[in-house]
Amino acid sequence: MRIAMIGTGYVGLVSGACFSEFGVSVTCVDKDAGKIERLTRGDIPIYEPGLDQLVASNAAAGRLSFTTDLKAALLGADAAFIAVGTPSRRGDGHADLSYVFAAAGEIAEALASIPGDRTVVVTKSTVPVGTGRQVERILREALPPGRFDVASNPEFLREGSAIADFMRPDRVVIGTENEHARTVLRGLYRPLFLRETPIVFTSLESAELIKYAANAFLATKITFINEIADLCEAVGADVQDIARGIGLDGRIGNKFLHAGPGFGGSCFPKDCEALVRSAELVETPLSIVETVLRVNEARKSGMAGRIIAACGGNVAGKTLAVLGLTFKPNTDDMRDSPSLAILPELVRAGATIRAFDPEGMSEAKRLMPGLDYCDDAYAAMDGADGLILITEWNEFRALDLARVRHLLRQPVVIDLRNIYQPDEMMAAGLAYHSIGRPASGRAAGQPGGERITVKPASLRAIG
Ligand SMILES: NC(=O)c1ccc[n+]([C@@H]2O[C@H](COP(=O)([O-])OP(=O)(O)OC[C@H]3O[C@@H](n4cnc5c(N)ncnc54)[C@H](O)[C@@H]3O)[C@@H](O)[C@H]2O)c1
Repeated sequence: MRIAMIGTGYVGLVSGACFSEFGVSVTCVDKDAGKIERLTRGDIPIYEPGLDQLVASNAAAGRLSFTTDLKAALLGADAAFIAVGTPSRRGDGHADLSYVFAAAGEIAEALASIPGDRTVVVTKSTVPVGTGRQVERILREALPPGRFDVASNPEFLREGSAIADFMRPDRVVIGTENEHARTVLRGLYRPLFLRETPIVFTSLESAELIKYAANAFLATKITFINEIADLCEAVGADVQDIARGIGLDGRIGNKFLHAGPGFGGSCFPKDCEALVRSAELVETPLSIVETVLRVNEARKSGMAGRIIAACGGNVAGKTLAVLGLTFKPNTDDMRDSPSLAILPELVRAGATIRAFDPEGMSEAKRLMPGLDYCDDAYAAMDGADGLILITEWNEFRALDLARVRHLLRQPVVIDLRNIYQPDEMMAAGLAYHSIGRPASGRAAGQPGGERITVKPASLRAIG
């Protein structure tokens, strides 16, 4: 089988490479000529573990190629996937569908000018309910009936584990009323059928909504545990015990119960926002998702205040080391990362930031040019008045704590991902602050640094 993948970003490139690994002949198309030029030379423009080898081996086998020429890519294609961006529309939070509609128009025009049988146009981008019908309308204006079919095939891969997610998904969702489209998509996902991956066939509308409902639910779960973490801090409980205690309940599940600085990334914030906006249009408000967005924004913007408090109430003139800038580990994606909400706030409060991230620094330098960027984690800490862990990259999970203690001018560690144990930090002479766990007070071994039991606010209030 042969497909064209339109949009060669995080989703299009991974999906295209994975389909080619399934044995499909894939042509990835992008408007960005620089990106296509790099890919043609085997240079992968994004960081995604394993993607370079997957692209190299399939390109070498002749199953995966890259072009800016849409018409050439569509010649003989059984399907054309739209995998372009759907960012938040500036000003109103609706999904900006201009890239999707532009791609649909270009596909229509290209298909009209080449001979061909029947092409299934599949929307893989995350799009609000009704978008598939509009794509269908755009195609109908340029093409005769029987020349095209439409389908929705939302993507659930996660950056950082995108290849495994695509190759072994929990499910594949295919929305279409058309038998030919169903047959083509079943054929493309054949290796997953053989592995008994559940394939959920639905209408176009349901497939579109499944994607938003999934992301909104996951964002809700994160926000829930974040609020429980705040409660834990107030009453002296440990959010990790709570997460384990509730996560073992099969009805709840243990995923997405990690308290932190608030969700970010290229999907959850903008997808929740778009879902809320599209629900408003049909006068069916989604008050839970609205609240999740509000609580999450407040959390992200309040994080700098927490950090300042942990640094003694003032960071003016202080130098803070920051480890992790991307919205999660194993990606270079900085879109809507909590670091973008936290660090400018600390700079405004007078702090100098010395930052390190294994993959996110070139984009971070563009977005936050006012920070000092360091070559590694320890260089960032050298002489700093505190260390902030924002993203839980594996290489930050096993820092040499004696070296950390030695390098920091003030032994304060603020861990927004709970990747260390309070006791080990205390033993290393570090004053450790984490999320939703009892604070460790000042570091043992420091002047006046005997263990201080912090009385929960509520208990203080009742004496
Ligand atoms: N990133 C994720 O983890 C993820 C996961 C699931 C779903 N999604 C959804 O998938 C879609 C794509 O996301 P992404 O992160 O891959 O975006 P991206 O910004 O990384 O990539 C989009 C690509 O499309 C290209 N493009 C735009 N218009 C084009 C056109 N007319 N023709 C050819 N190329 C065009 C851009 O140049 C860019 O390279 C979005 O709707 C997103 O919500 C993303």
